[in-house]
Amino acid sequence: MTNPGLNISDERSSAEMLGLLSEQLHLWIVPISGPLDPSWVAANEVILSEEERGRHRRYRRASDRDLFLAAHAVVRHVLSRYASIPPGEWVFETNQYGRPEIANLGVPRGLRFNLSHTDGMIALIVHDEVDTGVDVERVGRLDDLHSVSKTVFADSERSDFLALSEADQTERFYRLWTLKEAFIKAKGMGLSLPLKDFWFESVGPSSVTFSCREEVEPDPAAWHFTIAQPSPHHRLATACRSGSDRHPRKVESLSISL
Ligand SMILES: CC(C)(COP(=O)(O)OP(=O)(O)OC[C@H]1O[C@@H](n2cnc3c(N)ncnc32)[C@H](O)[C@@H]1OP(=O)(O)O)[C@@H](O)C(=O)NCCC(=O)NCCS
Repeated sequence: MTNPGLNISDERSSAEMLGLLSEQLHLWIVPISGPLDPSWVAANEVILSEEERGRHRRYRRASDRDLFLAAHAVVRHVLSRYASIPPGEWVFETNQYGRPEIANLGVPRGLRFNLSHTDGMIALIVHDEVDTGVDVERVGRLDDLHSVSKTVFADSERSDFLALSEADQTERFYRLWTLKEAFIKAKGMGLSLPLKDFWFESVGPSSVTFSCREEVEPDPAAWHFTIAQPSPHHRLATACRSGSDRHPRKVESLSISL
């Protein structure tokens, strides 16, 4: 069997990687193109849990199966860069809305992660106890941006969106979509958090402004967001609630190949 793991080009020790999480968010980006090598599949299926293997088998399309396997193997291999637990021994439990958290005994306090996968890309953010989320989307995945915008955007987001040219609307749509997803994933509440109860005004790469109803978040200024374009076809956003120091975490991007 060749290449049973991942090509993770980073020489830092797990203690160093872990130590950095009090200052940084580690954003692991994995491009996926074409079917996975069968020997890679065989070597990585065995590191999934029973529950993950069941979900893996239920995907009908080979490309969806590959994406699921690659994403869940990436989580396991990457987490093993932060603690001396082998990839196959990570144990996860989900909260009532489905957000997975590490459940192994003896794991360094506060090691957490959030995963996103879409056609052609996996994004995994590793962080400490601060609430953090990531979302990556393939541009063009959705057909009717206008009708989707009606259901997911707050009034101000929708009027800003409608005022743009068609080309700019596509860009705005995917920036807003990934920002909103990253926020609900950081909160860990999925779609039980009403999407119109929080909104973004400026969505420039270096200037995201965020507001919300008080029930959603009493302290919106504590939240920091980033937007990125990890490939010409993908848009990605991160959301992170700062600690008591209010200092935004720096996002360090790390790449992996399968
Ligand atoms: C499930 C949800 C958390 C993310 O869904 P998604 O965008 O389809 O998927 P992503 O690839 O970004 O994230 C999936 C991963 O998030 C994690 N996840 C699941 N539930 C989660 C939750 N409540 N909070 C945070 N992360 C969660 C899991 O690791 C999951 O991976 P898995 O399904 O392989 O186990 C939820 O937000 C959802 O259903 N979204 C639907 C899309 C939508 O209408 N978005 C509106 C945006 S404006």
